[in-house]
Amino acid sequence: MKILIVGGAGYIGSHMIKRFLQTDHEVVILDNLSTGYEDNCQGLPLHHIDLKDKDQVLQFLKTQSFDAVMHFASFINVGESYHHPEKYYQNNVINSFHLLDAMSRCGIKNFIFSSSAAVYGEPLQIPINEDHPIVPVNPYGTTKAEVEKKLEEYRLNKGLKYISLRYFNACGAHLDGSIGERHKPETHLIPLILQAASGRKKNIQIHGHDYDTPDGTCIRDYIHVMDLVEAHLLALNSLINNGQSAIYNIGNNQGFSVKEIIQAAETVTQKQIPIEMGERRKGDPAKLIADNQKIIQELNWHPRYSDLNTILSTAWQWEKKLAKLHD
Ligand code: UFG
Repeated sequence: MKILIVGGAGYIGSHMIKRFLQTDHEVVILDNLSTGYEDNCQGLPLHHIDLKDKDQVLQFLKTQSFDAVMHFASFINVGESYHHPEKYYQNNVINSFHLLDAMSRCGIKNFIFSSSAAVYGEPLQIPINEDHPIVPVNPYGTTKAEVEKKLEEYRLNKGLKYISLRYFNACGAHLDGSIGERHKPETHLIPLILQAASGRKKNIQIHGHDYDTPDGTCIRDYIHVMDLVEAHLLALNSLINNGQSAIYNIGNNQGFSVKEIIQAAETVTQKQIPIEMGERRKGDPAKLIADNQKIIQELNWHPRYSDLNTILSTAWQWEKKLAKLHD
């Protein structure tokens, strides 16, 4: 099968490519390098195309015969999405529509979409299952919900087959230490904690400690990037073997607070991590934990690397590499 990886130069896309190199599938990478890195492409050629350019996307898809498309290219920073909602709408929504339109015109039927737990908003029950109402509380979550609506339209009217994967907190790095998380600027908890451990940052600021949780800090469901890409492979196999369109949570069904993550990071790194107490961050639900039964039962997916020790030790191995480069 020939698979187009949109956003292959990014954090999750690069782990996906590396996983594909162990299979018989042929992969082609498209990325505009707005947030990605060319050296994430594992030596494969990168097609430097911006999804904003609808005609170029269509021309590109016409020249190849893809069996499926995986779409990882989006902006992911909740805070930034408040300040620049139009930037998020353009990139995450409109540009995704360009891709779907071009696919439809070229007769490409199979699509795997990187959605987010942010579509649920403030959860009504924990753990959250896929039937939970879609009431995003930030512009980022709204963009993902908009694309999911469009996917349903394309399924009903244009014969698209899709799987939308609602990520909880993607984290960790490749076990072999070659790739990992590198956002510019970094806003995610685990890389920032580890930067404080390596000395690249002076401390970790805890965004709010008066939430309705046992220690007052937010609880999240952390899922290792290698488990996450495995879910994509299973989703792809399901679609190409005549499986139905579907939506799945990808999480570990376990929640850890910000303080618990910092403590675990101190154990893994054997460093004391300086903490600063800060204000709540806008748009942060107190608690997000996935009900992951649907993907376990329907696709036989099982998280293998999402224990805190593996998450933090792979991310720490990666952070030490980055810290050396920045010396
Ligand atoms: N946090 C801190 N200090 C920091 C950074 C984060 O206390 O310096 C806290 C946040 O307030 C939050 C938790 O750590 O409570 C996790 O924050 P992240 O920024 O790592 O991740 P988010 O939960 O905000 O968001 C991530 C993805 C989103 C996705 C969401 C779904 O970035 O795209 O998970 O759970 F929607």
